[in-house]
Amino acid sequence: LLEPPVEQDLRGRRVVVSGGGTREPLDPVRFLGNRSSGRQGAALARTAAQRGAEVTFVAANVAADVLTEAGAGVQVVPVETGEELRRAVRGAARDADVVVMAAAVADYRPASVADAKLKKSGDDPVLRLVETTDVLRELVTDPPRTDQVVVGFAAETGDATGTVLDHARAKALRKGADLLVVNAVGDGRGFGTTTNEITVLDRAGDVVTQAAGTKGEVAHAVWDTVVPVVDIRSP
Ligand code: CTP
Ligand code: CA
Repeated sequence: LLEPPVEQDLRGRRVVVSGGGTREPLDPVRFLGNRSSGRQGAALARTAAQRGAEVTFVAANVAADVLTEAGAGVQVVPVETGEELRRAVRGAARDADVVVMAAAVADYRPASVADAKLKKSGDDPVLRLVETTDVLRELVTDPPRTDQVVVGFAAETGDATGTVLDHARAKALRKGADLLVVNAVGDGRGFGTTTNEITVLDRAGDVVTQAAGTKGEVAHAVWDTVVPVVDIRSP
């Protein structure tokens, strides 16, 4: 089967994509985690490589079959915790033109990690959690390199206080990333599925792109939006 040629509009560019979901240990055998598969991150990594980029995929707990979807041309850096992800992303970002934060990074980690397996006790335990570093926010406030384009992801649901877009706009303004890719989740959309609907906002919270399709199609739509920003930033 012949695939149509892909435009090499990321040739010569270095790209970092994070994907998957971080795990924060409680003890040697237990962790707090989330259900992010890393499929969107793998699709972003694969499509960037197809478009000519040199790609590093910082993969948080991504299963081997999903890593395969990133393709052989992508450098994979496996990580487990938010702090490992932070270090890997910032290290790779030092010479990257674009960083895309598609990983689901835990907002909190257990305040302490037990050296030995925790034992069951008579009373219901209470877990104390502390906030993790916001890697995306830090890429904006303390960039590892100037002229770098920073892209965030946000999975949102509507609630009593606002619609998906209301929450997404507020997040775009709060994060300060160049672009924020918003995923409407809930009702079987988003996590763990093969198709996706996205809206891309700029740092002012205005809609730049809307797209729907497979994670591969969505990934190409993201790059279609990111490439012109990279070309303006570093011609
Ligand atoms: N993110 C990050 N580091 C964290 C938390 C989030 O880099 N500790 C990044 C994610 O990779 C994503 C973006 O921030 O690109 C948005 O994540 P999200 O969870 O939607 O935003 P939060 O600011 O954590 O807000 P909330 O979870 O309260 O909606
Ligand atoms: Ca969060």
